[in-house]
Amino acid sequence: MKDSIFHTSDLLTPAYVYNQDGIVNVLDKLVNLKEKTACLPLYSIKSANMVGLLDVIKPYVSGFSCSSLFEAQLAAEVLDEGQTIHITTPGYRHDEWDSIIKLCDFVTLNSTNQWHSAAKKINADASCGIRLNPELSFVNDERYDPCRPNSKLGLTFEQLRAANSKQELDWESIEGVHIHNNCESTRYEELKKSVEKVMSGLSEFNPKLKWINLGGGYLLNDKADLTPLADTIKWLQDEFSVDVYFEPGKAITGGAGYLVATVIDLIESENKNIVVLDTTINHLPEVFEYQYQPKVMNASDKGNYKYRLVGCSCLSGDLFGDYAFDKQIEIGSRVIFENIGAYMQVKANMFNGINLPATYLLRLEENLELIKRNDYESFRSRL
Ligand SMILES: Cc1ncc(COP(=O)(O)O)c(C=O)c1O
Repeated sequence: MKDSIFHTSDLLTPAYVYNQDGIVNVLDKLVNLKEKTACLPLYSIKSANMVGLLDVIKPYVSGFSCSSLFEAQLAAEVLDEGQTIHITTPGYRHDEWDSIIKLCDFVTLNSTNQWHSAAKKINADASCGIRLNPELSFVNDERYDPCRPNSKLGLTFEQLRAANSKQELDWESIEGVHIHNNCESTRYEELKKSVEKVMSGLSEFNPKLKWINLGGGYLLNDKADLTPLADTIKWLQDEFSVDVYFEPGKAITGGAGYLVATVIDLIESENKNIVVLDTTINHLPEVFEYQYQPKVMNASDKGNYKYRLVGCSCLSGDLFGDYAFDKQIEIGSRVIFENIGAYMQVKANMFNGINLPATYLLRLEENLELIKRNDYESFRSRL
């Protein structure tokens, strides 16, 4: 992609820009997998959920997967007849069951208490599943690991056995199982291992499953060999005659998203050149939350011009990191953060009353379409 598109003067900054071609390239891989294996790909809308973006993704997937009532409402608004809505969360509220069941086709429960509250109602209207915790950790950072010690995510086999011995679960009405136990992995052998462990552990309960949902947590970039994924899907279909869902989020939106900022001030501070941007770390909250340095377009270790890029809020720690460039930065220059399409826009906040970025879709790599612009009303309506 030509980076000149990010320098056009009518692009309002700060701006999230989603490259449609980048999204479609990943979705083509999912379509290819679907053609090879007859799996049913979903998009996990928690990673990025602007309506214009959902419209781009919708034609390539069987449905959306959601983690709350509001996400399910949004999915129902966007999806076509025949596409399905799937939900799982540790956070079902008792006063939301009726609405959730009305909207969702597949409801996955996370605990035996949830089962007691809702299984009967779900069975009347939707397909009921349970989330299992495979107790296989592949993620070093516990904050991202669904199988961390004392996890709240999914039933372990010990919990299943305890519930079973008290006859708390009715296996006749459990139509599906859901697993999700990875994060940004390209190693699909880990998924294969998890599925094998879960299916072998389930055999003692003799379930009559119609589907399995493999969750998300894996990337679909060039580093990823999808063979173990395709083999696992085939194995599940052949051995257990189940429909197989797969629900990536970040794989679809992460690499296709950019944050474009404009330099609004330059400060020299104890021999460091500080570049103040019209954005803030609160527009890339995961950068601050997890303390990592985002990738910046055209920055290179060998560059002669060294800068510290900082955000414009009052927080002294509102900074992106130290970068070097071949060209000098001036007030009015653009700085482009890459790979920020997932979990940023959905978590951004308006601390200091700083406006949220606009959102654009970059169509055919040359046509920037404004899909959301924020203003004082966006700020006021949150108060
Ligand atoms: C149950 C479930 N499915 C899918 C996803 C999407 O994961 P990712 O965006 O890493 O693909 C998540 C993310 O937290 C999840 O919790």
